[in-house]
Amino acid sequence: MTPKPVKTVVFPVAGRGTRFLPATKASPKEMLPIVDKPLIQYAVDEALAAGADTLVFITGSSKRAIEDHFDTNSDLEAVLQTQGKQELLATLRGILPSYATCVYIRQPAPLGLGHAVLCARPVVGNAPFMVHLADDLIDATVPCLKQMADVHRAHGGSVLGVQVVPPADTDKYGIVSLERGAEGRVGRVSHIVEKPKPREAPSNLAVVGRYLLSGSIFEELAQVGAGAGGEIQLTDGIARLMRREPVHAFQFEGKRYDCGSKLGYLQATVEYGLRHSSLGADFADYLKRIVPTI
Ligand code: UTP
Repeated sequence: MTPKPVKTVVFPVAGRGTRFLPATKASPKEMLPIVDKPLIQYAVDEALAAGADTLVFITGSSKRAIEDHFDTNSDLEAVLQTQGKQELLATLRGILPSYATCVYIRQPAPLGLGHAVLCARPVVGNAPFMVHLADDLIDATVPCLKQMADVHRAHGGSVLGVQVVPPADTDKYGIVSLERGAEGRVGRVSHIVEKPKPREAPSNLAVVGRYLLSGSIFEELAQVGAGAGGEIQLTDGIARLMRREPVHAFQFEGKRYDCGSKLGYLQATVEYGLRHSSLGADFADYLKRIVPTI
C-alpha cells in the first residue's frame, strides 16, 4: 500500500546557537539572512514545496522573531501600500500561503534535539512527519524534503537524509552504517551512533538536518535518557526505532551548507549572493576585484 502524503513538518528552533554569539543572544540563529531571506524561510519554502500544510515550530527563549516573521504585519503593509511599493508588498504577502497553518510549541529548556522533536507529539500524533533543521541549507533542483517524501512513498518506513563527510568530521554528526547489499542512494540503516570519534565511527555517512520519521519515534524518544553531550538525542531515539521498523538512509541530491557554522554561513551567503537575480552581477564584479588582492 502506498503511504499517505506527509503533510506535517517540524522545525526545531529552540537551540542556543552558541556558535553565533553574540549575534544569537537576543535573536534566533534561524533568522540569520542568506542575502535577504532568513534561514527559516528557506526551510518553510522547502517544506511547502514538499507538499506540507502544517508547520510546527519548536521554539525557546528569544524566538519571538520567528512567529512575527510568519505573521501579518498590517502596519508595515499599510506603509508599503501608501508608498506604492507593490513589489515589496507582494513579497511580504507571499511569505506564507493561506492554506498553511503554523503551530508554535515551546520547548521549556534546550534539553536536546530529541527532546525538541518529542515536544511536537501532541500536534503530530501517530502519523509520519518530517523534521527540518533550518541551519542545514540545502540547494537542490528538487527540494530535499520532496526527495525524501518520494523515497518514503517508494520504500515506506522512516528516511534519514545523509551525506558523505570527511572521516575527521564524524564527531560532529549522527553516523550510520548500512545493511549489506545496499546500492544506489537508498539503503536500510543497520547501525546509528551520535558523534563518534573518527577512529570509532562505523562509516563516514552522516545524518544531516532532514528526517522523515514514523510516529512511533515518540514512544522511543519518551524513553531515551540523556546521551552524548548530556542531551536527549534524536539519534538515540532512531536507534531504538530501528529495532521495530525499517529506517532508510537516503543520499539526497543537492549541495548542503552548514549555516550553523560561521564558515558554512559565509559560503552560502557568497554563493546565493552570486546567484541573486538583481545583485549577482554586481557582486561578482566586486569579488573579481577584491579576490586578487587577498
Ligand atoms: P545544534 O546542534 O546546531 O545546536 O542544534 P544549537 O544550540 O542550535 O547551536 P550551537 O551548537 O550552540 O551553535 C541542531 C538543531 O536542533 C535544534 C536547534 O535549534 C537546531 O535547529 N535544537 C537543539 C532544539 O530545538 N532544541 C534543543 O534542545 C537543541
